[in-house]
Amino acid sequence: MRKIAVINQKGGSGKTTTVVNAGAFLAKNNKKVLLIDLDPQAHTTIHLGFEPPEIERSVYDVLIKKTPIKDAIIETYEKNLFIIPASIELASAEIELVNEIGREIVLRDALKKYRAAFDYVLIDCPPSLGLLTINALTTANEIFIPIQAEFFALEGLTKLIQTIDVVKSRLNSKIDVTGIIVTMFDGRKNICKDVSEKVYSHFKKKVFKTKIRENVRLAEAPGFGKSIKDFAPGSHGWEDYKKLTAEILTQEKKK
Ligand SMILES: Nc1ncnc2c1ncn2[C@@H]1O[C@H](COP(=O)(O)OP(=O)(O)O)[C@@H](O)[C@H]1O
Ligand SMILES: [Mg+2]
Repeated sequence: MRKIAVINQKGGSGKTTTVVNAGAFLAKNNKKVLLIDLDPQAHTTIHLGFEPPEIERSVYDVLIKKTPIKDAIIETYEKNLFIIPASIELASAEIELVNEIGREIVLRDALKKYRAAFDYVLIDCPPSLGLLTINALTTANEIFIPIQAEFFALEGLTKLIQTIDVVKSRLNSKIDVTGIIVTMFDGRKNICKDVSEKVYSHFKKKVFKTKIRENVRLAEAPGFGKSIKDFAPGSHGWEDYKKLTAEILTQEKKK
């Protein structure tokens, strides 16, 4: 089971878009996929057509009320694609967890108790390096970092890598960055090319060959409650996430 935390404490870097769309294409490739929405903004949940106020049990219940994972998983409209949704309450989870022993590994423990297997677990993280993100990092065995091809994108990466190193040495020796994704790329803009080249020269083989181009269809899809796979077949966004997913699948062979 590949458990991948999609993180970057910078908001708007393409985490949610990647989780939903790569998740949908993985499911289409006959992989059983679980998405965990760890962001109180619940964008992954909404992107797949759910309305957080109507959700009965969310990842908040799993973390705080110790609701078994099996009772919080819901099916999406897509075959093989499941989600543990987020709800607004999740915003207070970090504070509520503070006094709990083992607060950094609550999600990992909950998932361990769940027997049914998934091929992929993709965890969408909030735009911070707080306790929710730490829970994602202790649960996962891999990390994907989406980086928006723009000027400030590289700021904060040092802090992010430091956090990952601390988690690796203290809490989860299994974790590694296995994929960097350049997102919102526009080949006509020099700044995009500059940033993208810097990312490739710094992270080298860890960067996926597929760059996700800027594509308005990707930004529209959440409003229709669908992944790009179903919302806009043939669009650049569809093409790029399909290609990215193929790369993600090839990584399996290298393991
Ligand atoms: N490749 C892209 N082209 C155009 N818009 C995009 C693209 N990727 C994401 N977006 C849009 O940019 C915003 C931020 O992306 P999102 O995936 O929500 O980032 P994060 O989860 O890291 O905050 C969203 O409105 C999303 O629809
Ligand atoms: Mg998001």
